[in-house]
Amino acid sequence: MKALILEKPGTPDTFYVSEMPEPQPDDGEVRIKVYAVGLNPADYKFALRGMKAWTYPWILGLDVAGVIDAIGSNVTNWKIGDAVYYHGNLAKPGGFAEYTIASSHAIAPLPKNLSFPEAAALPCSGFTAYQVLHRKLHLQAGQTILIHGGAGGVGGFAIQLAAIAQLNIFTTCSAKNVDWVRKLGATHSIDYTLEDVPAMVAKLTHGRGVDGIIDTVGSDSATTGLGMLAFGGGIACVNGLPDFSQMRSFGKALSVHDVALGGAYLENDLQAQQDLAQIGQAFGELVSRYQLNPMLDEVIRLEDIPQALVRLSQRHVRGKIVAQIQE
Ligand SMILES: NC(=O)c1ccc[n+]([C@@H]2O[C@H](COP(=O)([O-])OP(=O)(O)OC[C@H]3O[C@@H](n4cnc5c(N)ncnc54)[C@H](OP(=O)(O)O)[C@@H]3O)[C@@H](O)[C@H]2O)c1
Repeated sequence: MKALILEKPGTPDTFYVSEMPEPQPDDGEVRIKVYAVGLNPADYKFALRGMKAWTYPWILGLDVAGVIDAIGSNVTNWKIGDAVYYHGNLAKPGGFAEYTIASSHAIAPLPKNLSFPEAAALPCSGFTAYQVLHRKLHLQAGQTILIHGGAGGVGGFAIQLAAIAQLNIFTTCSAKNVDWVRKLGATHSIDYTLEDVPAMVAKLTHGRGVDGIIDTVGSDSATTGLGMLAFGGGIACVNGLPDFSQMRSFGKALSVHDVALGGAYLENDLQAQQDLAQIGQAFGELVSRYQLNPMLDEVIRLEDIPQALVRLSQRHVRGKIVAQIQE
């Protein structure tokens, strides 16, 4: 089969397309004929550092949409020909290939009315946004949320889910993305390149602060976020934790949530992996029912993935890039 491979840890421009043997499903696994695969920051980040579990040549690619074409032993919930999508295991070969292997308990049916590229745009960012809103922050209609990086994958899906939950949504983005984040459902956008974000949040909330924050930017931003929360507020950190020395007990009673979507696999937690399938099902139904925007910025070919990952690493891609592997 054709696959994009890494010879050793490195930057995306070192990956190349080569022939690899077709993988065979083991106990509890299914083989997927990959139709489309989504690109994520995790691809270039982990490519650079590698992982202990990897053997080379290695195949990346976490977000797969495709069709089951072979089944391992003890798989009872799926059959050959089922169309599925999922967020895969970082420690196993991925979907930058014509075929890949998935755990049968961690995959979900392809959402209704979605193409394979649209479905492949969803898992990593969409499931993360879903996990933050429905497993971590638990905000109620009318409460306020600050979503950092509203033009990105995680931020864009978070805005759309927060709009369904009827939250009051503030988001940070640069000037060129203001119309975009408003269309996704943001109530108010803050241009982080020009405006003082904490001052704007204080102004918009009459000094109270927000009930929830999704921080996609990093530890410094998460630390600043602590000061923007209202009493009892919570911050979900997807790209680094805040400086805990800035928190005090019996003060604003804040919660800090660490988010590690792929940790379900890396920590070998079967229930958490099954929850990825449940999130896939629930999120897919929401996308279909509310016709959420899968935010496909670009559909590329397998050969174009290295260049697209370089662009993604510059952190100004709007929405999602997906590679179509088969027609
Ligand atoms: N922990 C987990 O399980 C998990 C899961 C998924 C993702 N992540 C991480 O979450 C982060 C976000 O991922 P992503 O998929 O949304 O892609 P991304 O590439 O980080 O997002 C790109 C967007 O970020 C915006 N942006 C860049 N710098 C910003 C800043 N300082 N403030 C506000 N917005 C900024 C850009 O908008 P403008 O062009 O308007 O600036 C761009 O549209 C990544 O670091 C990723 O690795 C973690």
